[in-house]
Amino acid sequence: MQTLHTIADFRRARGKVAGDLGLAPTMGFLHEGHLELVRRARAENDAVAVSIFVNPTQFGPAEDFKEYPRDLDRDLELLAKEGVALVFNPSPEEMYPPGHGTGIDTGPVSAPLEGSRRPGHFRGVATVVAKLFNIVQPNRAYFGQKDAQQVQVIKRMARDLDFPLEIVAVPTVREPDGLAMSSRNIYLDPRQRVAARCLYRGLTLAGERWAQGERDGGALRALVNETIEPEPLAAIDYVSVADVETLHELEGAAGPAALVSVAVRFGKVRLIDNVVLGGV
Ligand code: PAF
Repeated sequence: MQTLHTIADFRRARGKVAGDLGLAPTMGFLHEGHLELVRRARAENDAVAVSIFVNPTQFGPAEDFKEYPRDLDRDLELLAKEGVALVFNPSPEEMYPPGHGTGIDTGPVSAPLEGSRRPGHFRGVATVVAKLFNIVQPNRAYFGQKDAQQVQVIKRMARDLDFPLEIVAVPTVREPDGLAMSSRNIYLDPRQRVAARCLYRGLTLAGERWAQGERDGGALRALVNETIEPEPLAAIDYVSVADVETLHELEGAAGPAALVSVAVRFGKVRLIDNVVLGGV
């Protein structure tokens, strides 16, 4: 496994890779969810590249960029065991040299949900992902379905800007009690960690009600709200039942599929999760 820190070095190494290359873009502090992206990429490509870059431009001024957990040595050990060929680990200055100012306008799919709570977040995500696509030149890129809106924003960008690659969404990996794996879970204290089970409880109940034939967006939204609200440590930011692609809220009868997503605060820790109901 080669670890490269500059764009020029990475491009040289990438040029020597034969066959299809899969990319798993990450911000490091890897967990099973990231390793699942790598395993899927290995199964579908001849070689795998992983980027590790805590991207400053996708964090708001009051967000946790400085405190975001980092452990490069451990990440590299894990990736070597997974048979990764190339790791790209640039500095912020390498990615954003003085004078950098171009960014991607992500359009309507980035407006609701996370986009409305985190202004500028998806511009930062799309810009760094576009740069990574240009630097790494992957045939396929792998993203976790836990960040469902991010997946839609990236798919839209790849279509709209004609990136010649396939975007693959990989199912969310969960702890045994259902909590979606996230680098931010380590911030939860033991009581918050137990309380956080209510996210998956709400999403699972929505899935059960959908299986029984419920298709009313408002009714599903109310059910998830009513499941999470009684948890005293949980403060709901949003509960959404939306079209899977456009992310428009569904008020009446849903079509063949719906994306149920939640953002909930436990003290300072904000968790997101989602489930897709029906076929995609
Ligand atoms: O999902 C993430 O970890 C980040 O948003 C990504 C895609 C690596 C871009 O910085």
